[in-house]
Amino acid sequence: MTDDLLAQIRVAGGVPRHVAVIMDGNGRWARERGLPRPFGHRAGMKAVREVVEGAIEAGVEVLTLFAFSEENWQRPVTEISALMQLLEEYIAREVAELHSQGVAVHVLGDRERLAPGARAAVERIERETRDGQRLALNLCISYSSRAELARAARLIAEDVLKGVKRLEDIDEEAVRERLYTAPWRDPDLLIRTSGEYRVSNFLLWQLAYAELYITPVLWPDVTRRDLFQAILDYQRRDRRFGRVTA
Ligand code: IPE
Ligand code: IPE
Ligand code: MG
Repeated sequence: MTDDLLAQIRVAGGVPRHVAVIMDGNGRWARERGLPRPFGHRAGMKAVREVVEGAIEAGVEVLTLFAFSEENWQRPVTEISALMQLLEEYIAREVAELHSQGVAVHVLGDRERLAPGARAAVERIERETRDGQRLALNLCISYSSRAELARAARLIAEDVLKGVKRLEDIDEEAVRERLYTAPWRDPDLLIRTSGEYRVSNFLLWQLAYAELYITPVLWPDVTRRDLFQAILDYQRRDRRFGRVTA
């Protein structure tokens, strides 16, 4: 049933190589059903599977998902512990499948703040999927873009103090290579679900020229069809990068 959209994507050509997603709306999804917020987070795991499989089918090379922000640490402890438990559960349940699908998982963010169990799970999935060649799946956990940029500044300053870098060598490339996302190109397409028109401290540097796609669908209701619709919309865009096109 998704073959029609996939066929259209193939005909249009120019699939976004890197797609980033702000997975939002779990709490509202639960509230609409009179359920506590963690039920929405649990339901959201299915959407993660959908989007990962859809990305592989469409030929996306890098998928970067915003799962938990540094600001989210300010939520009630019960919600945070439910989320951390789900993270461990997700990893235990999906690691073998992701590995067999050729997905290499990377976790971006301040992992020092994770509880020991969650950190061990994160290290496990990175280790066991390391050789994946089909899709790089970046999970941003305890991530904020401003903290990432401050960290990059600190790492560069250290190099200058050690004398391995000169002040005049600090250029865009020097910053870029100190970001968590250094191994990958910038996102071509940013998707945000749940109809919010903001970036919430996500990839502020990397999104400079990303195409934005906002859908009202709440994250737990997202299927690969929504990803395919976003890709089709992206394929109709005229990316100019500040230049003039004929
Ligand atoms: C997104 O859903 C998941 C996380 C931020 C962890 P929310 O929990 O933000 O859901 P809403 O925005 O309250 O509906
Ligand atoms: C952004 O969603 C963070 C994640 C999706 C992990 P939030 O729900 O935390 O963002 P705001 O509060 O609506 O800006
Ligand atoms: Mg939200």
